[in-house]
Amino acid sequence: MVGKLLIYRGLTPSSKAKDLMTDFYAVIGNPIAHSKSPIIHHAFAELTRQDIQYERVMAPLDGFAETVGSLIAQGFKGANVTVPFKLEAFEIASQLTERAQDAGAVNTLIFTPQGIIGDNTDGVGLVRDITENIGVSLKGKRVLLIGAGGASEGVLHPILAAQPAMLIITNRTLDKALNMVKRVEARDEMVYVSVQAHAFDDLQDQQFDIVINATSAGLTDSQLPLPSTIFAPNALAYDMMYGRITPFMAFAQQYGATVFDGLGMLIEQAAEAFYIWRGVRPDTSPVIEMFKQAQPSA
Ligand code: ATR
Repeated sequence: MVGKLLIYRGLTPSSKAKDLMTDFYAVIGNPIAHSKSPIIHHAFAELTRQDIQYERVMAPLDGFAETVGSLIAQGFKGANVTVPFKLEAFEIASQLTERAQDAGAVNTLIFTPQGIIGDNTDGVGLVRDITENIGVSLKGKRVLLIGAGGASEGVLHPILAAQPAMLIITNRTLDKALNMVKRVEARDEMVYVSVQAHAFDDLQDQQFDIVINATSAGLTDSQLPLPSTIFAPNALAYDMMYGRITPFMAFAQQYGATVFDGLGMLIEQAAEAFYIWRGVRPDTSPVIEMFKQAQPSA
């Protein structure tokens, strides 16, 4: 099964248009050529025997809404949304799920006769990868979330819902982390988790069981100025970035943490979108395995 998944090459648009039984989905971004989502969703479709086609769609930077309109007109059933359109997707949705509202961003669109529903599966993807694939519970743990941009906002509430003992948000620009904490404090249901914002320098005397890098520093191979003492014994270090060993991952490994990249999160967020669209939850383990074999260094 895994070998067969690896040889997927996709159909041409003309051959797809003739198949009226097939439901169409897309991932919209700019750039988009690098996206693994078509491979992942076609693998899920094969595993669950769903008849779908899923393609990459490059939207012009000033043409996201038009691109979505065109997909709807062509009969597409839904789309994933990636950089830089997650905020615009939030804006154009006529209805938002609670987790999309929490994240302030949308990565999954469902096209219905009543309008566009916007959802966000990034946070649940991260939490499911940590708890189910890696097998580490967040409950009662000391968690450090690095970064206060869109990626961090997207996973904040699902992490809190998993009930860590404490969550510290740290960011180069401390104000952004402080604002995230303020927004959490404005929500009644989160009072059970201690949430604070600390500057990198203020982490000297603290240790964490789970350290999650949600910054984009890895894109530029930048080292984060973190104290080397932050990793508790048996700590998990998780970089939400996938496809490279970031300086954060190398650092965490050097100081004793068990390190994971964002491959599992990528596949789990896709599985959740697939479930929303198709009502069937795919088994993610063969797909994760397929990617690990294809890129053993990641
Ligand atoms: P994303 O959607 O990937 O979260 P973003 O909203 O632009 O993108 O946020 C990028 C995050 O990475 C921010 O937390 C940013 O820190 P600042 O808020 O101080 O800008 C963080 N980041 C990016 N490059 C970084 C670097 N070299 N060192 C530390 N933090 C970095």
